[in-house]
Amino acid sequence: MSEDASEVLEEETDLVDAWINPLRDPGDRRLPRIAGPSGLVIFGVTGDLSRKKLMPAVYDLANRGLLPPGFSLVGFARRDWEDEDFAQVVHDSVKEHARTPFREEVWQQLAKGMRFVQGEFVDDDAFEKLRETIEELDKAQGTGGNFAFYLSVPPKFFPQVVQQLKEHGLADPPKGAWRRAVIEKPFGHDLQSAKELNAVVHSVFPRDEVFRIDHYLGKETVQNILALRFANSMFEPIWNRSYVDHVQITMAEDIGIGGRAGYYDGIGSARDVIQNHLLQLLALTAIEEPASFHPKALVAEKLKVLSAVRIPKDLGRHTVRGQYTHGWQGGEEVLGYLEEEGIDPKSTTDTFAAVKLEINNRRWAGVPFYLRTGKRLGRRVTEIAVVFQRAPYLPFDSSATEELGQNALVIRVQPDEGVTMRFGSKVPGTSMEVRDVSMDFAYGESFTESSPEAYERLILDVLLGDANLFPRHQEVEESWKILDPIEAYWDKHGKPAPYESGTWGPAEADEMLARDGRSWRRP
Ligand code: BG6
Repeated sequence: MSEDASEVLEEETDLVDAWINPLRDPGDRRLPRIAGPSGLVIFGVTGDLSRKKLMPAVYDLANRGLLPPGFSLVGFARRDWEDEDFAQVVHDSVKEHARTPFREEVWQQLAKGMRFVQGEFVDDDAFEKLRETIEELDKAQGTGGNFAFYLSVPPKFFPQVVQQLKEHGLADPPKGAWRRAVIEKPFGHDLQSAKELNAVVHSVFPRDEVFRIDHYLGKETVQNILALRFANSMFEPIWNRSYVDHVQITMAEDIGIGGRAGYYDGIGSARDVIQNHLLQLLALTAIEEPASFHPKALVAEKLKVLSAVRIPKDLGRHTVRGQYTHGWQGGEEVLGYLEEEGIDPKSTTDTFAAVKLEINNRRWAGVPFYLRTGKRLGRRVTEIAVVFQRAPYLPFDSSATEELGQNALVIRVQPDEGVTMRFGSKVPGTSMEVRDVSMDFAYGESFTESSPEAYERLILDVLLGDANLFPRHQEVEESWKILDPIEAYWDKHGKPAPYESGTWGPAEADEMLARDGRSWRRP
């Protein structure tokens, strides 16, 4: 473990506190978890994330009866809107994107607590108006002074917004109340900027009141990794270097960058999703059993894994970055990355990345974890495949097992959420022939309960103060330590490899695995 990580563990991971202080126990998870009196302020409320995810999530929570009656939603943006205009935008977004049916009475109740504050982030008057609005809501809606501030804004504005919150007394809760900051990724663009960002946020909000959103942790199937591993006895004994050959974590998207050129160009796929979503998936797949599901116990285990991750010495052989070119997808012709609106035609930004990592600990030494992600790939799929070693000896004619692959356990994060187990089975007939078959668990078939959308779960957790599904600042920093040298290598060594849209990435990615005698799954 790096020195930083062990310091951090001492400083932050108060396991004893988690163990003996019953007030901090998350409690009986079977009871409906309903937020107490509270409100949410969204900065950047006119953005895509807010309209497509945050507003519908708030409505869905209200519709499921998980918000208090006086729950309040405040939008902060530059638009010249009145409260009614804002409510109308929320209404339209809910109608278009909410997952639960529209119910007029729920809407009316929610609309009572909607306010809009117009202003720029430099505008002191606007922050004063925000303070007054919150005080008014405390009286009119009974929000009790409890407010979360959601920064759905480009990271360059984070320092300014948190500073304004501080200067206008908004970060200080009234007695007995709480004030929380919710930050959307990206958490910096490298280790240095992440540290600076964390320092600014922590200078205003106490560490336990800062919630960093990694929406993958809000996904049902991602949380199920913990259930699968630690609620069962059949997987854990083989979940190690003695049985596992390698692990493949894939996050493939069929979409291009859409209207996000301003954010994406210069950032690229590895910073966009490997630094956060994929390394979190790796951490959950590889951690030791936490002492409890107290956030600090879980963070301690994730940190141990992240700080034990090693990048290969020869990055040229074990990493690949790519960029999509013109092609066909779903029968439609699509533009190449360099032809997309707002992209520098000479851009060397990666839209595909594949990296090989290892984890230096007793459980995983020598087991490669291959991570890959890309835009405009064959189809949208996120999965974790734990691929097992071949049986040490096969007592059959060699022709009987020609079509037998390696056993695998595949956690299908999305779509078709579920788990697949792949193993060899005798092909019916008079001769002995063994071929791969699959055993499937599909959420839709096994459960009648529906999964909340990731943002629903995460917003509710913020309001409840439950930090389990939010990466702590040390995890963010450890993840940058893994990615920074890879990005530095790429910066120095040429351009990303081109790949045609609608394919599974550049040939170099296949060659990277072939050199190790392996191949990528084609999910
Ligand atoms: C975001 C990335 O974090 O995740 C996007 O910034 C990506 O580039 C998105 O498209 C994918 O999320 P999901 O939930 O659709 O897999």
